Amino acid sequence: MQNILVRKGRPEDAHHFSELVTLTSPAIFPIVFGSTVKKMMKNLFPHKRHYYSFDRSFFAEIDGKIVGMAQLHKLITRKGQTARLSLLLLKYFKWRLPAKAVNLLKFDRLIKFVAREDCYISNVAVYPEFRSFGIGTKLLAAIEEEAKNIGKKRVVLHAETHNARAISFYERLGYKIESRSSALKIKNRLFESFTMAKSVTP
Ligand SMILES: CC(C)(COP(=O)(O)OP(=O)(O)OC[C@H]1O[C@@H](n2cnc3c(N)ncnc32)[C@H](O)[C@@H]1OP(=O)(O)O)[C@@H](O)C(=O)NCCC(=O)NCCS
Repeated sequence: MQNILVRKGRPEDAHHFSELVTLTSPAIFPIVFGSTVKKMMKNLFPHKRHYYSFDRSFFAEIDGKIVGMAQLHKLITRKGQTARLSLLLLKYFKWRLPAKAVNLLKFDRLIKFVAREDCYISNVAVYPEFRSFGIGTKLLAAIEEEAKNIGKKRVVLHAETHNARAISFYERLGYKIESRSSALKIKNRLFESFTMAKSVTP
């Protein structure tokens, strides 16, 4: 497909973010957030400087229609992000906050294991009917270019160990498995992932 455009996220992309983010791990997101997951994501997305913000998002479009997305966390702004996310959660979850927030902040904390000279990719997803047209490849190419432009040496991501398609997609793009991350335990279920990384220095 020739006419794929990749652009930075905007607050008004909240609807597509909420749809696409739940595709990245259909098992995890409903467990973490319950049935209100999409509404929650719509609320969080327009706020700046936290894990689920528009300001870390890139969207792929074909003829003006959003078909996929990915996020790049540069880590230079991670200071205070957990506090910001916690406050937003408090605002939207209200009395249901404690258990859900603990689960949600586990994702946020994954970033803290990434080295300063690296940056972190999350939430890569393409709508099912647009897969295998090279959209995911273009999204990651744009993100790697951005990482290079801000002086980063490597991009790092997590892929769930059972997600064979995503793992082979990343391997085809030059990402290598570095380790098996310790499992996230959420509501008595274990979610294991591989840490994968790629050098972006010329
Ligand atoms: C993983 C994912 C983002 C890949 O996106 P995509 O747009 O399908 O990716 P691409 O089209 O660039 O490449 C995928 C496949 O299409 C093939 N392909 C790439 N460019 C192509 C083209 N121009 N024409 C036809 N096929 C092409 C590749 O061989 C690749 O095959 P593979 O899956 O066996 O590696 C997508 O499958 C997805 O959204 N999955 C669900 C969410 C998910 O698991 N996210 C990852 C979380 S870690």
